[in-house]
Amino acid sequence: MQHFDQSELLKQLPKQFFASLVEKVGKSLEKGHDLINLGQGNPDQPTPAHIVDALQQAASNPKYHRYSPFRGYSFLKEAIVQFYKREYGVNLDPEKEVAILFGGKAGLVEIPLCLLNPGDVALVPDPGYPDYWSGIALARAKMEMMPLRQENHFLPDYRELSPTVLEKASVMFLNYPNNPTGAVATESFFAETVSLAEKYGICVVHDFAYGAIGFDGKKPISFLQIDGAKEVGVEIYTFSKTYNMAGWRIGFAVGNEHVIEALNLLQDHLYVSLFGAIQEAAAVALLSSQQCVRELVALYERRRNTLIGALREIGWEVKAPAGSFFAWLPVPKPFTSEQFADLLLEQAHVVVAPGIGFGAHGEGYVRVGLLAEEERLKEAATRIGRLKLFG
Ligand SMILES: Cc1ncc(COP(=O)(O)O)c(C=O)c1O
Repeated sequence: MQHFDQSELLKQLPKQFFASLVEKVGKSLEKGHDLINLGQGNPDQPTPAHIVDALQQAASNPKYHRYSPFRGYSFLKEAIVQFYKREYGVNLDPEKEVAILFGGKAGLVEIPLCLLNPGDVALVPDPGYPDYWSGIALARAKMEMMPLRQENHFLPDYRELSPTVLEKASVMFLNYPNNPTGAVATESFFAETVSLAEKYGICVVHDFAYGAIGFDGKKPISFLQIDGAKEVGVEIYTFSKTYNMAGWRIGFAVGNEHVIEALNLLQDHLYVSLFGAIQEAAAVALLSSQQCVRELVALYERRRNTLIGALREIGWEVKAPAGSFFAWLPVPKPFTSEQFADLLLEQAHVVVAPGIGFGAHGEGYVRVGLLAEEERLKEAATRIGRLKLFG
């Protein structure tokens, strides 16, 4: 077979850190171990029945068997506008300020291709969701890391960034509720972000993937709720977490109309929008009762309380996340995050994600997903307790 070399573009993509974890997990499963896998971010609940029903009905509509309009159906963009108005009091223009995406990830990877030239600089949270790195690498742009520190509630401290870096930066990625730390943003932090973005001409890309998941009765705020935000940025929303639709691949970007136009333009060249029936079911998700979302958040909150309680009982001093479906747990001495994750896999058959996979400032932590039944979360804590690492 003839060998075809990969392009230079592909060769310079960042290595997928978590691929090696997936391999280790596979090997352990082959040995027949009863693993409790809390290492991934894959929602474990099904899509609510009324949304699946809407897809089933829409799938038989011949209208949707033809090509969809290039930039998506207007009914979905109208539904998104209503959703943002209802949930956040934010006004949007459906044709100019909304772009339909094949999931949040697609938009996050497309943004650097839309806005950055080779050598341009993007600011990225560290620790952070690794897919930001992918789009930046595809655009042959450069990353400057913004450390997220516990003492600053895992918000970047902009005073740590030099004016030279800020002058050079064209894009900034933020993500609250945060993967991997579970932190949430405050209004004052977002307001400071808008001022900084105005001053330095930076486009803020707020990844609101966990927007629906806030605990203790606190609803996470949208970046677009802040005065001036729409002028300096966009927010990326996904159906994956709010409605357990990760396999459906649908999300959207809202905000600054120039960025929305750039995304739509790039997508005109890449795709012909999503299957119309998926768009119809997505509109149903946004416009029908949100009781399913409230129940989902309550489920994650119960799991959070169970897990955090059980970990504290074994002597592990952990903080409860305020949002997202992750807990960010400090690694005991003398382990690195990877050594500790390996130890838990080998000796407790519990899978966690080592913090270093999310960036250098993720070292010292592991990420645990609240994506298993409460009994399994308790069992995970019991197994870890047997290793006698704490207290
Ligand atoms: C922080 C963050 N952003 C975006 C996404 C992308 O979600 P999707 O592409 O399914 O919309 C994820 C998924 O895990 C995520 O954790």
